[in-house]
Amino acid sequence: MSADDFRIIAPEGAAPTAYGLPLAVLAELTHRCPLQCPYCSNPLELETSGAELTTEEWCRVMTELADLGVLQIHFSGGEPAVRKDLVALVRHATEVGLYSNLITSGVMLTKARLVELADAGLAHVQISFQGAEPGVADRVGGFRGGHAKKLEVARWARALDLPLTVNAVVHRQNLHQLPALIDLSVELGAARMEVAHVQYYGWALKNRQALMPTREQLDVATELVEAARARLRGVLEIDYVIPDYYARQPKQCMGGWGRQFFNISPSGKVLPCHAAETITGLRFDSVRDHPLEWIWHNSDAFNCYRGTGWMPEPCRSCDLREVDFGGCRCQAFALTGNAANADPACAKSARHRELFQLAEAESAATPEGFLYRNFSGGSRERR
Ligand code: FES
Repeated sequence: MSADDFRIIAPEGAAPTAYGLPLAVLAELTHRCPLQCPYCSNPLELETSGAELTTEEWCRVMTELADLGVLQIHFSGGEPAVRKDLVALVRHATEVGLYSNLITSGVMLTKARLVELADAGLAHVQISFQGAEPGVADRVGGFRGGHAKKLEVARWARALDLPLTVNAVVHRQNLHQLPALIDLSVELGAARMEVAHVQYYGWALKNRQALMPTREQLDVATELVEAARARLRGVLEIDYVIPDYYARQPKQCMGGWGRQFFNISPSGKVLPCHAAETITGLRFDSVRDHPLEWIWHNSDAFNCYRGTGWMPEPCRSCDLREVDFGGCRCQAFALTGNAANADPACAKSARHRELFQLAEAESAATPEGFLYRNFSGGSRERR
């Protein structure tokens, strides 16, 4: 999707704006999850199952999304398969004309349920892999037997002719398996693979020292991905996200705050990005209180960093301010305490050099065990 795809809708009578409604939305059905990944991107304060939107509320939200012109819904979590009504939700998405993607760890799915999901109109499956073999994968995910189950689910998905994306989050402790992860994606029949280095906000910050790759590891991984892209053209498309701490230019996070993306939390809060709740002091409106279109245009959380008017220097006078929009607000907050500051991933940030040094120091540290994420207890000891 290009930025131009989003210059479309504004409320009647409103001044022209440089944003429209997104074409896709991330629906976090639940924060419950059997895995305990040390880089979990859910907020530090997880929402309880009792607070989750009901089946009826999600169906109303999906009808609203379709009426607004949204085309795709990505069912995510936590682990979306924890929800007993997942098939009903996918069916409703199909009925209102939404293309549905299931972003899952796979470990809660049975073959019969996957058949039901396919029959309900599920259009795509994305499965996360924590490594290329059980030893590393099950340790990183904190779930014994998880890797074998994921392989099984990926094969069921392909047997049902569901398009498959392999999602590989990479870091210092599994980067040596990147070539095998690429081979695995091909062997499983995935059409797409996401190789995403861990982004450090929320829970991942607690494990930064154990996860940060060395500069050398990053360079090797980048070369590997480039070679694989050339070798596998027409077979496997590879998306690649590098760790910001080693970048010189920040990423255009979320396509620019409040421009192309929104995320609905399990209890119905509408967020400009999946990690927005790590920025303290923002207040998020809920689909329980307002129509989605109203929230998109009027919510303070969306408008506070939308466009370029909020930017201080060095972003304000930067030629690239409408290209990268100052980088990632969540990372700026995590590293400087102020989400309006330039993302330290940018070479123009006063904190950039410090960030680079920090990455080098963290990557050279003796790895500690992971501080696992655990839905019921919050965290588990390092091991
Ligand atoms: Fe929130 Fe980048 S992750 S703006």
